[in-house]
Amino acid sequence: MDLSRATIEDLKKELNRREQCEKMPKRNLILLGPPGSGKGTQSGKILNDFCYCQLSTGDLLREHVAKKTPQGLKAKEAMDKGQLVSDEIVNSILLTAIRSPQCSRGIIFDGYPRNSEQAEELNTLLQTEGKQIDKVIELKINEEELYDRIEGRRVHLASGRVYNINSNPPKVEGIDDVTGEPLVHRNDDKKEVMKSRIEIYNQKTAPVVDYYSKRGNLATINAMRPINEVYDELKNKLLWIKSVWLDNLRLIKYFLK
Ligand code: AP5
Repeated sequence: MDLSRATIEDLKKELNRREQCEKMPKRNLILLGPPGSGKGTQSGKILNDFCYCQLSTGDLLREHVAKKTPQGLKAKEAMDKGQLVSDEIVNSILLTAIRSPQCSRGIIFDGYPRNSEQAEELNTLLQTEGKQIDKVIELKINEEELYDRIEGRRVHLASGRVYNINSNPPKVEGIDDVTGEPLVHRNDDKKEVMKSRIEIYNQKTAPVVDYYSKRGNLATINAMRPINEVYDELKNKLLWIKSVWLDNLRLIKYFLK
């Protein structure tokens, strides 16, 4: 953002937002859910309120594809068919991102891990960096709804901002609210590619839900409700970790007296 062009009102709003963020708990969380369940949409809201960084492996890969990096050229082939990109490429892209200073307040893993191997790899990566996963949120949704959502989705590729011509339209049709740049319908949002993405989710990513459920840090949210209702529940789950933690701290202090 070019600060010299921002109005005083905008700057005050931004300062206020950042101050509110500082009061929020520092957390690392994973958003799990099939394509179109709302991971990107909810990540945007969490970013605004908690100032975490969003690590969307899909967005990171699309960036590499657009820049035609060697990793991007390999990834494109799999993405166009709705298949998973190799773990080797995804993990290497992710490690660089985890270390970025913007991730110091917390990380939202959006679209990662996508199979059991990536879940194991993430544990190792985070341990090495002295971090851990605090909460895993599963967005639960029916398959028919996914097709409707993807059909109406429009995205701003550079930022990853997500809109929907039916449920979440931009202020001006086809234009990103923040930058004024054009929105696009993603290449892999075609019905036949979408079918393959859902199949891959059921085969490879659904077992990751069980993986975290066994570890006791999974919460499942009904994602078939309006965006703000889903977010209210998600936010409560994140804040709840804080209050449980504070309650435990108070108990420990009480017994130590
Ligand atoms: P990626 O970009 O991660 O796609 P995805 O997981 O398939 O998820 P989507 O981005 O399609 O959906 P979303 O859940 O974010 O939903 P959104 O918020 O946009 O991955 C793309 C590809 O990259 C993969 O197929 C794979 O090839 C590769 N890849 C990525 N990560 C990888 C990994 N870890 N390993 C290997 N390969 C990897 O919402 C959808 C629409 O619905 C929007 O229009 C939105 O406005 C609307 N909407 C959202 N919530 C609601 C609501 N509550 N009510 C009504 N409408 C809503």
